[in-house]
Amino acid sequence: MKVVNVYVNEKKLQKPEETIMGFIDPQLPNWRMLDIGIGLGRTTHHFAHRVKEYIGIDYSFAMIKTYRQLFPDSSLNGNIRLGDARMMQDFEADCFDFILFSFNGIDYISHEDRLHALEEIKRVGKKGGLFVFSTHNLQYIDNLYTIKFGSGLKHFLYQCYRYLRLIYHNGLPQRYRDKDFAIINDGAYHFKVTTYYIKPAAQIEQLKRLGFKNIRLFSLKTGVEIPKTDLNQLTKDSWIYYLCEIPAKN
Ligand SMILES: C[S@@+](CC[C@H](N)C(=O)[O-])C[C@H]1O[C@@H](n2cnc3c(N)ncnc32)[C@H](O)[C@@H]1O
Repeated sequence: MKVVNVYVNEKKLQKPEETIMGFIDPQLPNWRMLDIGIGLGRTTHHFAHRVKEYIGIDYSFAMIKTYRQLFPDSSLNGNIRLGDARMMQDFEADCFDFILFSFNGIDYISHEDRLHALEEIKRVGKKGGLFVFSTHNLQYIDNLYTIKFGSGLKHFLYQCYRYLRLIYHNGLPQRYRDKDFAIINDGAYHFKVTTYYIKPAAQIEQLKRLGFKNIRLFSLKTGVEIPKTDLNQLTKDSWIYYLCEIPAKN
C-alpha cells in the first residue's frame, strides 16, 4: 500500500485540533498560516478559507503531486508547495502568525532534524505567534504490545505475529522506561517506517530549551487540555497535541 493512499480518506479534524480551532477561530481571518506536511490536504480544507493567507508545504513530491491531481482547479494551488520543515529558506524570518505540523508529521525525521525543524519554525514564526503539532507518546508504548482476546482466531494470530515483530524490531517495552525519546518501529505502514516517540515531560523540555512558551497539551482521545500535573499518568493517548507560543529571536 502506498503511503499517499492512506491519507485519501482522511478528512475530519482530530478532536484536539477541533478544541484548538475553537480557541483560535476568531483570530484566523487576521493570520498568515504555514501548514507543514499537508499530505493530501486534510487540514487545508479546514483552515485555508479561514485565514488571511495560507501556505501549505510537504517534502514529499508524491503528496504534492497527488494533492494537485485531486484538486486540479483549486485557487490555492499556487500556495501548495514542495518544502521541507528542516530548511525553509524560501520564507523570511517572522512571517507566519500560525504554524501547524499536524498528524505527527514531525515524527518521521531524526532527532537532530527534529531540532533543526523546530529552530526553523521558530525563525519563520512571528514572536507571539502560535505553533501547533502532534507527536507520539513514549508512555503509550506498553499498549502497542497488548494482545486482545475474543475477536476471532485470524485476528488473534495477526496480533501474535505483530507482537513478535514488535519485539524483533524494538525489544521489550521495558527497554524504554528510562528514556525520554526513542525511534520505534510500531508497525506503521507494515513495519516499513520508524517513528519518533517522546515522553510528554521531555517534549515540554525540548520546546522550552528552544525558547517556545506557554506550552499546552491536548488529549488525542478526548480533545481536552491535559493538566501538567498528570503527565506521568499519560499512557492512554498514542499521540498528543501541543500548542505553544513562538518566542522572540535570540
Ligand atoms: C502523517 S502525514 C499528515 C498529513 C496531513 N497533514 C494530515 O494531517 O492529514 C505527515 C506528512 O508530513 C510530511 N512531512 C514529514 N516530514 C516533513 C518535513 N520535514 N517537511 C515537510 N513535510 C514533512 C509527510 O510527507 C506527510 O505528508
